[in-house]
Amino acid sequence: MIFILDNNFILDLISRRALNYGVQLNLTYLLLSKGYAAISSSQLHNLRYVVKKSYPQYENEYLEIEARLKIIKTPSYVDLNHKLANLDIEDYLIELSAKIVNAKIITSDKQFLKNSEFAITPIDTFLYLFKEEKKVEFLPLKKINDKHVVDIEQAIDRVLTSGWYLLGNEVKNFEAHLADYVGVKHAIGVANGLDALRLILKAYIEMGIMAEGDEVIVPANTYIASILAISDNRLTPVLVEPDINTYNLDISLIEKHITARTKAIMVVHLYGQVCWSEELEALAKKYKLKIIEDNAQAIGAVFSRQTTDNRQQNQISESATQSHALTTAIKTGALGDAAGFSFYPGKNLGALGDAGAVTTNDDALATMVRALGNYGSKQKYVNEYQGLNSRLDELQAALLDVKLRYIDADNQIILKTTTSFSLLLSVVRRL
Ligand SMILES: Cc1ncc(COP(=O)(O)O)c(C=O)c1O
Repeated sequence: MIFILDNNFILDLISRRALNYGVQLNLTYLLLSKGYAAISSSQLHNLRYVVKKSYPQYENEYLEIEARLKIIKTPSYVDLNHKLANLDIEDYLIELSAKIVNAKIITSDKQFLKNSEFAITPIDTFLYLFKEEKKVEFLPLKKINDKHVVDIEQAIDRVLTSGWYLLGNEVKNFEAHLADYVGVKHAIGVANGLDALRLILKAYIEMGIMAEGDEVIVPANTYIASILAISDNRLTPVLVEPDINTYNLDISLIEKHITARTKAIMVVHLYGQVCWSEELEALAKKYKLKIIEDNAQAIGAVFSRQTTDNRQQNQISESATQSHALTTAIKTGALGDAAGFSFYPGKNLGALGDAGAVTTNDDALATMVRALGNYGSKQKYVNEYQGLNSRLDELQAALLDVKLRYIDADNQIILKTTTSFSLLLSVVRRL
């Protein structure tokens, strides 16, 4: 939620001149503490001017508040013939800023309240907040992105003005940051999560490691993309049933499905739960199988390899690396030979459209995936392989790079919600 504070609200507040000063004070405190308070960039010069001129004694107080406000940009699509523009151009510019982020404008100005679809009184704001906070929306993607609106806006403007929209520095930066975050040598941006998995398998075929008709073990309980990535490459998916407690692939059932044609195991870390064990690693070693992780649902999840015993820990945790002194924490995406990520908008790290990535420590595989996703080309106009057009674009990369900075904090919020949901589920199961 974003609330733009109109000039009269801010001036009333710092000058303590309004009758409802107590309401304004409490409201400001609430909005600032929740990170909801904002102003339009069009207000800045006027506010600073009026404060300096009329309330110099409160200038520092004003600047302290200003520093804690989000600043929402004033767009360039200004319709000077708009009714509100004729009544009060400043109100109109504030309204345009509010429109960009779907914000409310808190004001006591009667004309503004009458003519704007976004304006709201301070008292009504309390009621609105109360009602909104009680609503539990399913996956409110806009709210998630609103938290980073300023950084996102900057990223969009940077890409727009760069004039460079594909295969540029934004993708390079994001790939470097993602590889660093996951703890692997290579991250390659691709068009979506399905393509990430498709390209890994296609690369193995191109490298002579797999051939048409070879088998890939995959969980029966997964999203269709895991299976399509296999069949699309004319490989055979061999479905293995899940563990009833986690809904993830039951690792103990894998061995009986291995044949002379099995070339890989695709594990899917479903719902952020890590699907990994030392038994799985031993199987892959014994039968010389590749392990491909479908990490579409688990960015930030950690497998903790115990040094004293072999217990597995399934958790999404920023602090896991530090808190378990006797364990080595390895992020999903760095466990297997290669991993596919999805940045579909509803995923924990969601783009504003389709996007994906492959991670690996294998130099040859990384080079091949990169070439195959770019029309089979390592060098411009030299097309060595029968590739695809599956590139991450500069705009999505720039946005993802912003959101990657907050992924651990965002995962913690999700973890809290799912922990309480799991608790509830365990209570219900016992009834
Ligand atoms: C487990 C799993 N694998 C693969 C995908 C495919 O990702 P995308 O939708 O980005 O192609 C998804 C997400 O949709 C998924 O949940």
